[in-house]
Amino acid sequence: MSTFNFVAEPGAPARRGLVTRAREAVASMAVIPRMRRAPLAVLEERVRQRGDMATLDVGPYRYYLVHHPEAIRVVLETRADRYPRRTKIWSEIRRVVGDGIVISEGARWRSQRRRLRPGLSRAALAGYRARVVSRTDDWIDGIAGLRSVDMSSELSALALQVFADLLLGLPLTLEEARATARVMESISRELMARVTNPLAPPWSLPTPSNRRLRAGIARVDRLIDRALTLDARARVGPAAIDGLLPGDAAEGPPLPRDWIRDEAMTMLFAAHETTSITLAWTTYLLAAHPRWQTVVAGELAARASGDPSSARAELPALARVVDESMRLYPAAWFLERRSLDDDVLCGRRIPRGAVVVVSPYLLHRDPRWWPQPSVFDPARFERPPNKLIYLPFGAGPRACSGRHAATMVMHAVLRRLIARLELAVCSFEAPRPRPGVNLYPDRAVELAITPRAR
Ligand code: HEM
Repeated sequence: MSTFNFVAEPGAPARRGLVTRAREAVASMAVIPRMRRAPLAVLEERVRQRGDMATLDVGPYRYYLVHHPEAIRVVLETRADRYPRRTKIWSEIRRVVGDGIVISEGARWRSQRRRLRPGLSRAALAGYRARVVSRTDDWIDGIAGLRSVDMSSELSALALQVFADLLLGLPLTLEEARATARVMESISRELMARVTNPLAPPWSLPTPSNRRLRAGIARVDRLIDRALTLDARARVGPAAIDGLLPGDAAEGPPLPRDWIRDEAMTMLFAAHETTSITLAWTTYLLAAHPRWQTVVAGELAARASGDPSSARAELPALARVVDESMRLYPAAWFLERRSLDDDVLCGRRIPRGAVVVVSPYLLHRDPRWWPQPSVFDPARFERPPNKLIYLPFGAGPRACSGRHAATMVMHAVLRRLIARLELAVCSFEAPRPRPGVNLYPDRAVELAITPRAR
């Protein structure tokens, strides 16, 4: 981590003249439409021009783009408690998920993380795996007769079905999962539209978009309610949420009902879109790189067919394909924090209250750490990367608590998919990343499918 790319910014604010400040104000307004149209390009350009600790003014907001691994370590790890998630996007997300584990801080957060840990441990995940494989096989049975499939929407339905099952113990039909997934996607879209619109109306106003949001949240709430009132006999089996339910809590008194609701909502939102879009990107990359698809299929054929055990050691090519897919298209493409103190990161002053942005997307495409960064090459993961230049699941105490669950689900789904079907691209136009709450493909990932010859 020796190379440090730092370009001095214009002088300190106090020394800038009126004309300079007026010019900067105009420039910051001019960024707004570009930022709404092509945020990745704006961020990339800024970091390229200004280096590892750039600032970006978008209208009235100033962002500190923290791009150097040493500064990232401070923000996400060593001083993580002084860089909480208290920014605009998190306050919008809070409207949906309440004070669940992604929002809470301090003692409440520590207790939530402890209570959820057993349900997301490797031992618990090993118990869920057969359920994921069986749901995936049913799903493949349903699509196998088609010539082509919109993987983005199909995998979104499958991922929601799988996570309703293993997080909440709730059995959903694929049709129910499909409808709910669409509602959840529209909630994410509306939230992002509010974040990028400095004039977004207050939540209390009954505007059409606010009404849509409320109706969407109410619908997901009804689903959560169903899960939490489910008769024991109707449950799919043990689920990650069990550690929070009355009678099952390993520690302390039973939690209030609204806390449990917030946690269930948080987990479902945190798990569903991130995993389903990573799966969609990965199927696209496998279809677009038939050589790698053949390698993965060969690796699967060489192992016992259908054995759903952990892929990383046993199926290294599959694991590396997923790693490379998350390098190129990290679902969580930006991580936002607010600085609680005046600080200095890699020589740059960070004022108290500043909004700090770490972008895994930019970091994963920095040629200093990743030679030929835009090339899909899973072989680069033959050696594990430094954890501060590869952040698909974040880093530090607030890193993704569902990363093992996500990895298990993605590996299980892909191994059944590639064992049974051959994937090919349908269109010459590759999907491009479209940044929102997550990093979506900008169009349906339509893939041709044929049964794989055994
Ligand atoms: C490919 C799939 C996934 C990706 C890429 C992903 C990525 C991330 C990232 C980057 C963070 C940290 C955000 C930040 O630092 O601001 C995070 C946090 C979190 N994720 Fe995931 N995630 C995935 C799947 C899941 C799943 C399946 C679950 C639940 C089972 C989950 C639950 C959470 C929770 C609860 C947090 C907040 C942790 C805390 O603040 O203590 N995620 N995720």
